[in-house]
Amino acid sequence: MVGNGGRENAIAWKIFNSESFRNSESRLICTIGNPGINEFAETIDIKPTETDLLVTYALKEKIDFTVVGPEVPLSLGIVNKFRDKGLNIFGPTKEAAEIESSKIFSKKLMTANNIPTAKFKNFSQKNSEEAKKFLKKSNFPIVIKADGLAAGKGVMIAENTDEALEIINELSPENSLGDAGSDFIIEEFLEGEEVSVFVITDGTDYAVLPYSQDHKKISEGDKGKNTGGMGAIAPVKKFMNKDLEDKIGSKIIQPVLSALKKEGKEFKGCLYCGLMIVKDEPYVIEFNCRFGDPETQAVLPLIESDFLEMLIASANEEMQNYRLVCNKKSACCVVLASKGYPDHYDSGKEITGLNSDDDSILILHSGTKFSDGKKIVSAGGRVLSVVGISDKSLEEAAGKAYDKVLEIEFENKYFRRDIGFKQLTVKS
Ligand code: AMP
Ligand code: GLY
Repeated sequence: MVGNGGRENAIAWKIFNSESFRNSESRLICTIGNPGINEFAETIDIKPTETDLLVTYALKEKIDFTVVGPEVPLSLGIVNKFRDKGLNIFGPTKEAAEIESSKIFSKKLMTANNIPTAKFKNFSQKNSEEAKKFLKKSNFPIVIKADGLAAGKGVMIAENTDEALEIINELSPENSLGDAGSDFIIEEFLEGEEVSVFVITDGTDYAVLPYSQDHKKISEGDKGKNTGGMGAIAPVKKFMNKDLEDKIGSKIIQPVLSALKKEGKEFKGCLYCGLMIVKDEPYVIEFNCRFGDPETQAVLPLIESDFLEMLIASANEEMQNYRLVCNKKSACCVVLASKGYPDHYDSGKEITGLNSDDDSILILHSGTKFSDGKKIVSAGGRVLSVVGISDKSLEEAAGKAYDKVLEIEFENKYFRRDIGFKQLTVKS
């Protein structure tokens, strides 16, 4: 497995517990690892982005199957490189991964194929005068997005022209995002309910995993800065229904898979659809070329059928024969972060209270590491994902997660206290 965060800890846990994995007496090996991943995998000291070294390693060790977590190695062509050498791997090629690595490509593909999405126009820093003219005629709020990969920092909302101009200036290559912002789009602001869905596909056939909801803002009530994600719940019950699911299939999933295939960019792997539901109609906010973090931590506990077999079926073009079975549970994932994230924060704080023998709680590691032998310390902005799982209700799942969150201690611990608030019934 390539990657070493909370999402990969969830994937490692799920692969390790897949019957097919256990029956084959396989070994799981992960890049870098962390104290959570290490419970399920051996680790190697090659970074996820060192794709050539990973090819050499996989050839030498005769690795049967590789799973890629993050977008960067995918956009660097890790899948192309592995396949060129006859190595089997889960994930899209570099060309198919453009659905995430270029927002302009993705928006143009949607427009050309009548896939519902916010209206947009693309610009480059070289002709930012045009963008300024466009803004004079625009309604606010408006959304500005860097074209390239920006680790969750490429989307900004402007309330007026001055804010928009400031954002465009921030996107110029001499600033923090580098080249990612040299092209950008300006798009219509959509108001509605946000939902994420993972589609596991072999390019033609696919399985739709349970719908989930991320909480991207740093503060309660969805206020403050955007983050990588402060928590997630699954499944989404409140506004999802069969009718809406059918529309998402026929207006979004099927057309985007055929469009990519038609362009010679057949997509295999996990297609993440970030959707906004506006008056019972689905619109695409973004496509990602991989599992989302922290949604994965809440979605994987709901899968009953063999997870590893599903990933292999995607890579081997056998999704037609895979039957996805999900349970009726609910899951709530609360992210524990270092205070100060997504800006400056301190690391290296000792973490206690991590033990649990309760099957309905998962403690997954994002930014942690071992220090002085057995001690576990914080080593990142997002430190841990605590997942509560319940047979009964999302309320119970959230209760379990938060009980455990309070037992885990480290200096600078920060978390949102309202994960799932849009789905939970408010009790007076
Ligand atoms: P993204 O990185 O594309 O997921 O965008 C980050 C967040 O910005 C999304 O989760 C939405 O909450 C918000 N967002 C992006 N595009 C739009 C849009 N067109 N209208 C409203 N909100 C948006
Ligand atoms: N949770 C949002 C993402 O993974 O991009």
